[in-house]
Amino acid sequence: MNTAITKMFNITFPFVCGTMMNITNAEFVAAVSDAGGLGILASTLYDDKKSFQDALKTIKDRTDKPFAVNLNLFPAIRPVDNDALMEVILEEGVKIVETSGARAPDDIINRLKPEGVKLMHKCVGVRYAVKVAALGVDAVTVVGFENGGATGMLDITTLCLVPAVVNAVDVPVIGGGGVSTGHAIAAILSLGAEAVIMGTRLLLTEECPIHDNLKNALLSSKETDTTLIMRSFKNTHRCLINETVLKVQELEKENAPIEKVLPFIAGDESKKMIQEGDLSSGYISCGQGVGQISKVMPVKELFLELAEELKASNQRVNQMLN
Ligand SMILES: Cc1cc2nc3c(=O)[nH]c(=O)nc-3n(C[C@H](O)[C@H](O)[C@H](O)COP(=O)(O)O)c2cc1C
Repeated sequence: MNTAITKMFNITFPFVCGTMMNITNAEFVAAVSDAGGLGILASTLYDDKKSFQDALKTIKDRTDKPFAVNLNLFPAIRPVDNDALMEVILEEGVKIVETSGARAPDDIINRLKPEGVKLMHKCVGVRYAVKVAALGVDAVTVVGFENGGATGMLDITTLCLVPAVVNAVDVPVIGGGGVSTGHAIAAILSLGAEAVIMGTRLLLTEECPIHDNLKNALLSSKETDTTLIMRSFKNTHRCLINETVLKVQELEKENAPIEKVLPFIAGDESKKMIQEGDLSSGYISCGQGVGQISKVMPVKELFLELAEELKASNQRVNQMLN
């Protein structure tokens, strides 16, 4: 498939697997990239330069295909040293970096762009997209309100956000939020995007390192089974409904301070769900597209199936036009 993004990143499919906290580790990223998409390593998984460097080496051992690294700009419980991570990124010759979070990545662009690293920034609104495009990123990723993870405060749906951003910036746009099928991919590309980003759909792949209990829970979830938390802290996240999430919502209704909420949403709590399969512990980000996923597949097979569905969607519409 030929799009501005497949050409820019030298990938087979215009499918980006969004970075996922505690999940997009070296092995999973390698599997996504090796299947012809773009895997993005969650750098927040690594506490020090050495373990981050080892992760990059693992990816390179497993695939010679392009991959990216995410640098986190969201508020974090554990401080993130992006300067140290950038040193390793340059030493190890990482070619693509994604930033995501609440602030503009001026410092990262200034440091990495002159070194020839391709940069993309993920955001949830037109004005942020315009700002980072002006700062010099090579591509902008936008995710609508349906998406799993941070939704921002603007609540603009994917169908409206993607074309608005495409119109507003002159760099290629990667669109997503709620994309779980090739039919949705056809829609995103029709709206003017040059690639799609998916998170939730990739959770239900064989290579995704989450517990089977969680995979089964996601498989039986519908589009109505997600909700928003952390809105009262201006850090809204869409996630799968469970007991902890309902408790957090209750606390937020009572205007509880962040210190009261943190013990429920801390990373270690979510790890109990993701790694040990304790479904009531912590929270997992999850998009409304979860309702359209009916099976767990190897990433390679998934990408081929998505490409077939995308073709079928286009054929269906073309037939309507004839
Ligand atoms: C479990 C999970 C964890 C995520 N963690 C992060 C993260 O740490 N940083 C980030 O920028 N985005 C994160 N995201 C958002 C994804 O990268 C991607 O933008 C989003 O999943 C796309 O929407 P979709 O889930 O509807 O496909 C996460 C998403 C999920 C589902």
